[in-house]
Amino acid sequence: MKITVVGAGYVGLVTGVVFADLGNEVICVDIDAHKVDAINKGRTPIYEPGLDELLQRNLEEERLRATTDLAGAGRESEVIFITVGTPPRENGEPDLQYVDEVARAIGEALNGYKIIVNKSTVPVGTGDRVRQIIEQHRKEPHEFDVVSNPEFLREGSAVHDTLYPDRIVIGTDNPRAARKIVELYAPLERPMLITNLPTAEIIKYASNAFLALKISYINAIADLCERVGADVVQVAKAMGYDPRIGAHFLQAGLGFGGSCFPKDVKAFAHSVQRYGLDPSLYETVLAINEARPRQFVQRIAERLNGLRDKTVGLLGLAFKPNTDDIREARSIEIMRHLLQEGAQVRAYDPVAMPNMQAIYPHITYCKSAYEVAEGADALVLVTEWNEFKQLNFERIKHLMRQPNLFDGRNLYDPQRLRKLGFYYYGIGRAEPPSSQNGL
Ligand code: UGA
Repeated sequence: MKITVVGAGYVGLVTGVVFADLGNEVICVDIDAHKVDAINKGRTPIYEPGLDELLQRNLEEERLRATTDLAGAGRESEVIFITVGTPPRENGEPDLQYVDEVARAIGEALNGYKIIVNKSTVPVGTGDRVRQIIEQHRKEPHEFDVVSNPEFLREGSAVHDTLYPDRIVIGTDNPRAARKIVELYAPLERPMLITNLPTAEIIKYASNAFLALKISYINAIADLCERVGADVVQVAKAMGYDPRIGAHFLQAGLGFGGSCFPKDVKAFAHSVQRYGLDPSLYETVLAINEARPRQFVQRIAERLNGLRDKTVGLLGLAFKPNTDDIREARSIEIMRHLLQEGAQVRAYDPVAMPNMQAIYPHITYCKSAYEVAEGADALVLVTEWNEFKQLNFERIKHLMRQPNLFDGRNLYDPQRLRKLGFYYYGIGRAEPPSSQNGL
């Protein structure tokens, strides 16, 4: 099949590369000429395990190319995916200007029957909006169909998630369009669900909001655990054995970041309100999440008797492991609170440091976890990268000024660290009374 994918961001590039790998002819379109150039040279503008190899292979075998020419690419293709950004406006509502622009350009270039598939995360009703824009701008009365095909891939495992999706949702009112998209996805042999347009649009937000809700829920439970001497890790584990609850996304910690959950929950609250319904459920999910970095820094400050001139080392900056993405990363807020209270900050992340340097150029960036620990009064685990799992804590203890460990992701065994002489604080993991006063 001849496919155009408009918007070579995370979703667009991974989708394009995977469709090419399945044997389709794919054109990736982006307005950024540098990005287009990099893609054509086999360089991915994002850090995503496995993507470089897949891109290079499909470029070499001439199944994929990138261009800035949307009209030209659209004319050549039967299926056009829209995968452009929908950044939030100040009030939380997604800004659809890029989706609108693409729809206009597709309309103007329409030269035969096309299926326009929307993969960008958009509020319910956007499919109809795209249809109207194309109708208004088409120069000849060619037919077309609009399909909603939400994307569920996660950063850091985007290629895997695209090859093995849990489900493929195809929302359209026209069986002819549905059949074509089913054919496109058939080689993946994954469960497919065909719905109408608004149903598919809601599935995406409802899924992300529910996952965010699970995280805020377990974080609220973690706060209670801390007050009463309970361990949230065990609470979550026991809850997770119930298949009605499930074990995933019950990891208490610093909360959710990234380019999706915070933005999507805000957007969903906005949509719900727009249709005259009560958004307070979603607002509470966000409020619990927003409070977490502040609460966490307070714990560090209490332990160190204030943060002025104390040195705090951060392990991990990315919003989660296996990505260099720091959008809405908890590290940004933690850093802000630490600096506001007068701390000196040292940090290390395997790939996200250049991105963070653009926001906080003046903190000390280190080459390893051990360098971060040098002279630190507290060490803070922010992102649970694999390389932080098996650190040599004996060595770290000797490097630090005071062996205080704040585990923002409950990565470590509290007993082991306490035995090694650390003051250990985990989220929702009460200290046994005997070690209450630390060392
Ligand atoms: C999320 C969804 O998981 C994807 O299905 C969806 O396609 C994507 O948003 C999107 O809408 O584009 P992503 O933002 O890449 O994917 O990251 P997740 O792995 O879902 O993690 C989000 C945040 O939640 C991270 O900051 C992570 O540390 C945090 N988290 C996750 C927790 O605090 N606890 C958990 O138990 C799980």
